[in-house]
Amino acid sequence: MADRPTSSDYERHEYDVIVIGAGGAGMRAAVEAIQRGCRTALVCKSLLGKAHTVMAEGGVAAALGNVWPEDNWQVHFRDTMRGGKMLNNWRMAQLHAQEAPDRVLELEEWGALFDRTPDGRILQRDFGGHRYARLAHVGDRTGLELIRTTQQRAVSLGVDVYMECKILRLLHGPDGAVNGAVGIYRETGGVVVFSAKSVVLATGGVGKTWKFTSNSWESTGDGHALALWAGADAIDMECVQFHPTGMVWPPSARGILVTEGVRGDGGVLKNNDGERFMFNYISPYFAAETADSIEEADKWYDDKTYRRPPELLPRDEVARAINAEVKAGRGSPHGGIFLDIASRRSAEYITRRLPSMYHQFKQLADVDITAVPMEIGPTCHYIMGGVRVDADTAQTTVAGLFAAGEVAGGMHGANRLGGNSLSDLLVFGRRAGMAAADRALGETVDTTVDEAQVEEVVAHAFSYLERDSGEQPYELHHELQDTMQALVGIIRTESELLEAKERLVELGERSKKVAATGGVRFNPGWHMSLDLESMLAVANCTTLSAIERRESRGGHTRDDFPKADPEFEKVNFVSRYLDGDYRVTAEDKPVMPPELMTLFEESEADAKEASK
Ligand code: FUM
Repeated sequence: MADRPTSSDYERHEYDVIVIGAGGAGMRAAVEAIQRGCRTALVCKSLLGKAHTVMAEGGVAAALGNVWPEDNWQVHFRDTMRGGKMLNNWRMAQLHAQEAPDRVLELEEWGALFDRTPDGRILQRDFGGHRYARLAHVGDRTGLELIRTTQQRAVSLGVDVYMECKILRLLHGPDGAVNGAVGIYRETGGVVVFSAKSVVLATGGVGKTWKFTSNSWESTGDGHALALWAGADAIDMECVQFHPTGMVWPPSARGILVTEGVRGDGGVLKNNDGERFMFNYISPYFAAETADSIEEADKWYDDKTYRRPPELLPRDEVARAINAEVKAGRGSPHGGIFLDIASRRSAEYITRRLPSMYHQFKQLADVDITAVPMEIGPTCHYIMGGVRVDADTAQTTVAGLFAAGEVAGGMHGANRLGGNSLSDLLVFGRRAGMAAADRALGETVDTTVDEAQVEEVVAHAFSYLERDSGEQPYELHHELQDTMQALVGIIRTESELLEAKERLVELGERSKKVAATGGVRFNPGWHMSLDLESMLAVANCTTLSAIERRESRGGHTRDDFPKADPEFEKVNFVSRYLDGDYRVTAEDKPVMPPELMTLFEESEADAKEASK
């Protein structure tokens, strides 16, 4: 049994701004805060540079207009809203579309190396749901380049970095504002207490709550849970994205992302009969702009004035189609579907444009994607729902607390378009850093640490190590993942969601009695026990919201309510943590102003013209 440290053992730090999470959003927020003169710290659960941001492989969406001069922020805004099935916070979508080009150019000034057009501008590629080739990219390693560039910038500006540090709870000042955080180091088990005038959450996603995911071990919804426990609202947690293309074989690689860039660069989806089945799944929503024959779709690859192939429909549509094909018995040998670029592009093209995909399949599955199709299937990739924020400032509903990137909700509505996450984290990472700095430098904030709060957090965390017996956290994690995968997955029904709700209550009770054997140093069982708390918070909010949203919209598909209901378009489902329980209520969402509404009328007229 490990000895619990006492207050005098704790490491203590005081900052103007602390940023929790060091993916793209966290790095960008930290850069902004330090550039504005704040003493800034970046706290990450993993090693610096290792973040889910790198899984946004295919590009960063920004209406630079380098390949299609017709592109502009209005079209990007419209695509984002339509992709999100109009559930998006319109102001976030507007700011995102307007500011993304500047954020990409700024990244280039900081040293990011993008692929180039023949005349030397940043090259842009096609992705699902984007009207024009819009994704600035570095082969299929764009997220990595973004991380490398922002990391270099943050470190060179003097941001202090705390690595392998899991934040357990946020702290409140006497006025109720968030004014710090308590964490433990993985390496030593030592406790660290941060006090700060502003705290930015940039902790990314929740994917490890599901069984098959592109996310790695860090993505356990810590920021979502920290915000809820601190009294902040989360919205639309039912909106979870299953990326259509993850690896399905071998089992050790299941869920690993296969970039949408494969389809953007010409790859097509086929079932076991060799049929390009996506033509059977074109929803009326996108019918006007989607090719309805192979001949027309194939013309688009050479001459982009034709309608787009259905493989480039938004992710929710493609994931549902793959799911249906597999269910109908037309899947590949390992329960996926075929993604074929080999018969459509030269080996030279594939290895130049998609080098990571080539190596990933060669090394993990012994498959040469320049010669044979890949086997792929949907994988839990992203949560659109998240902490409720003010669009302009990234301020949550609790003073002193800001959120940006995947942990924040609203920007992507019910479904995110590929490439919009990298631009989201740059645009709102910067805005969060800016607003956090404004508060830290411009307001009087009481940063006194309430030691009683710290003691409660530490006692709770160490209780897992102090129990003589109890269940294994890993066992519970597997049960949680199985529950969410089977009952709160791509296709949902009321009876299954209610069953999930019951199972979550039981898992919640059992999680309180989990025991982590061993000491405090590098004890994965202990950290899994703590991560389980966050994942259970996410699972509860997702399930409760999914029960309430009695319609199908974007990533949230209800078999028992297969259509979108215009009444539900008007509401966000708001999750809160109240009296030790998660509660969900419907609240009106912000209404889009008429001048932006007209963009949709214009686009309908354009689509009708294109379909003639
Ligand atoms: O498919 C991809 O490259 C992922 C991109 C994204 O999630 O934005």
